[in-house]
Amino acid sequence: MNRRQEESNRACTNCRSANRRQTESHQARLNGRGAKEENEVKEENKRSAVKKFALNNSYFKNRRPDDPETLSEIVAYHQQHGDLPFRYDGDNWPYDTVCERQKRRGVYHCQFLTPDAVAERMAQLAKRYGGDTEVVFDACCGTGQITKELLKLGFEVTAFDIDPEMVQVHNYLYPNCCARVADFRDIDDVQRSLIISNPPFDRTIAVEFIGWLTGSLAPDGRAVVLLPEGYVNKDKPKALAESLSRLKVLHRARVTEKFVHTGGNFEIVVLERQ
Ligand SMILES: C[S@@+](CC[C@H](N)C(=O)[O-])C[C@H]1O[C@@H](n2cnc3c(N)ncnc32)[C@H](O)[C@@H]1O
Repeated sequence: MNRRQEESNRACTNCRSANRRQTESHQARLNGRGAKEENEVKEENKRSAVKKFALNNSYFKNRRPDDPETLSEIVAYHQQHGDLPFRYDGDNWPYDTVCERQKRRGVYHCQFLTPDAVAERMAQLAKRYGGDTEVVFDACCGTGQITKELLKLGFEVTAFDIDPEMVQVHNYLYPNCCARVADFRDIDDVQRSLIISNPPFDRTIAVEFIGWLTGSLAPDGRAVVLLPEGYVNKDKPKALAESLSRLKVLHRARVTEKFVHTGGNFEIVVLERQ
């Protein structure tokens, strides 16, 4: 007998004023209700006991057709259930989910997310070189790996990314930053004191990004950027050399942590608009 039935029976025994017949019919009603509720509980248990696959190497390979697939669907699931559609015992599900999904779906828009330790170091450099600046512009923010570390240090953050799904995750995790969907090539209204970015670094787009960055910093403004190692020494193409000539390198630090899905060498560079 389960707890609910026990309580029902106890309640019924307490009906001292009822005559035997009344008691019997009362008992029957209570038993009926108990059985119905019990069935509902059993159904719910059956639903929630559906096996969840582990995120690593398993979920995106084995998920059932109705299971969330896209980042948007996973965020919606998390919002609705307060839980993830897969088993996960790590401490950074947005990062791990993107990396795991990329194994099967490929990497688009240079979405090589910043590992936690690198993001932390970049945020610390923003603090060290940012002077009194309180607001940081996280350009090409992705899921907010760098935003997360900036917020820990007490910065206010504004952010954008070209990918609506990345922005959706960012806004779900860090709603106060009001991240927006934008291509940096369409943003020409900024004169920022402090910009931080792990930007897309495919050959042509990286050149465009450095050009955009140079034009988007206020005079004396500073930027903390993750770049392929040696990138700031390049003298070709001309457009890149021209942009770099307007920037002063204040600090360089080699990154030793490995990135998922890319084997390049990177460095964190602090730049000042001169
Ligand atoms: C290397 S990832 C870094 C993401 C994030 N900042 C991080 O640190 O994890 C580069 C990001 O740039 C975004 N991106 C690519 N091209 C872009 C563009 N033209 N304008 C804005 N964002 C862009 C991608 O969607 C991706 O999120």
